[in-house]
Amino acid sequence: MAIDFKQDILAPVASDFAAMDTFINEGITSKVALVMSVSKHVVEAGGKRMRPIMCLLAAKACGAEDLESHRKLAAIIEMLHTATLVHDDVVDESSLRRGRPTANATWNNQTAVLVGDFLISRAFDLLVDLNNMTLLKDFSTGTCEIAEGEVLQLQAQHQPDTTEQTYLDIIHGKTSRLFELATEGAAILADTPQYREPMRVFAGHFGNAFQIIDDILDYTSDAETLGKNIGDDLMEGKPTLPLISALQKTTAEEHDIVRLSIATGGTAQLQRVIEIVQNCGALDYCRQRATEETQAALEALDALPNTPYRQALVNLTQLALNRIQ
Ligand code: IPE
Ligand code: IPE
Ligand code: MG
Ligand code: MG
Repeated sequence: MAIDFKQDILAPVASDFAAMDTFINEGITSKVALVMSVSKHVVEAGGKRMRPIMCLLAAKACGAEDLESHRKLAAIIEMLHTATLVHDDVVDESSLRRGRPTANATWNNQTAVLVGDFLISRAFDLLVDLNNMTLLKDFSTGTCEIAEGEVLQLQAQHQPDTTEQTYLDIIHGKTSRLFELATEGAAILADTPQYREPMRVFAGHFGNAFQIIDDILDYTSDAETLGKNIGDDLMEGKPTLPLISALQKTTAEEHDIVRLSIATGGTAQLQRVIEIVQNCGALDYCRQRATEETQAALEALDALPNTPYRQALVNLTQLALNRIQ
């Protein structure tokens, strides 16, 4: 049976989720008008809110009853996520995000970089209020690793020899690490240290699957469905898994086209590369890897007590995978 987002995922934390969403908006305050308008522009555009939902469900799955501080944590995580997107769109020169023109396209790169910095600082400002040094340390280390993942990706740009292992290091940093903070942070705040590791392992694999799927969709979906332009990865010469795999599965002319497209970037060969990626079996390989990561994520959840909250995390994981099926 198809998984219903509201009923099978959100329902167990629906009221906490609504309160959390209000907190995101209230949390973003600045006396500088431009900071406010840029922040609101991105935050109010919505987004799937996957990380905060995961944080709230993880808290309940660990046995937390009162989620007051977890609601704040979830809002902080969404703020950090939003900041990474604002920065990411500058780096990727993207023009569309959450169905709206990006901050860099609406204002300019300088504004987007600085407001992104503000959002990160504000997130830590709020995190301090939670008064938990273990949590603060986890987030400080984690956000360093997120930044490292983005820089590692920059280093791999236009490099056709990038290996699958390097790709995994990149996505673990830039994407999975924040999911890990969302769930491991929930366990820390719930005072259930025994669940920190399973929560981290779950979210790490979930994040890997999620990014592999995002990278597939960049070759198979459309702007209307995604709220962001497809083909951005190729445009930037990003050696994502569909291309890394395509290089292994092609020879002669097709192989050369993919190699050259990574090296030069641009969209001149976009249609041709999409065709190659779709026909050579690269996407099947990516789907298989996403499925394996999903399996590993679900296995890690076995360490938690069997509750409706754990089940909602299972449903969320399955729904994320369904995006490519
Ligand atoms: C986008 O994340 C960045 C990736 C890790 C692929 P989401 O797909 O969760 O973005 P929003 O929050 O729904 O816009
Ligand atoms: C994920 O990478 C970005 C972050 C984790 C900040 P992408 O560059 O693939 O994300 P999208 O496709 O722009 O959302
Ligand atoms: Mg991007
Ligand atoms: Mg992408």
